[in-house]
Amino acid sequence: ADFSDRLDAIIALHKEREGPLLPILHDIQAEWDYIPEEAQPVIAAALGMTRAEVHGVVSFYHDFRDHPAGRHVLRLCRAEACQSMGADALADQVRAALGINFHETTPDGRLTLEPVFCLGLCACGPSAQMGDRLLGRANLAKVQKLVAEAGA
Ligand code: FES
Repeated sequence: ADFSDRLDAIIALHKEREGPLLPILHDIQAEWDYIPEEAQPVIAAALGMTRAEVHGVVSFYHDFRDHPAGRHVLRLCRAEACQSMGADALADQVRAALGINFHETTPDGRLTLEPVFCLGLCACGPSAQMGDRLLGRANLAKVQKLVAEAGA
């Protein structure tokens, strides 16, 4: 009951706006940290959309996740300055080492991998972030150490 009350309140808040879907999704993600599957048909019905349309928007935007995040979130910078310092190669290595892709969580629910677009460490890329810790001149070994030290 609590879940659907909150959901109804969020929908009611934005329903009459122009383009209500994105603000609704932002509020839902702010509330639950992801877009629960069961919220999607409710949103669709309220806005006169199909479930597929709502699902399409949720999957299209990087900002929205349709599963809860892991207990820790590792972010790798994907912006230009870091790319010129080898961020793509690092991302490939990290994905292979963790066995997950961006926007995915390890099967034990411990770690989610997300892209981020600039951490303000452009001069010493590639950069990474975990919790409140930032890592510059990142390589696979340093990222693995960061993950281990966070207990993830
Ligand atoms: Fe990666 Fe700025 S581009 S930290």
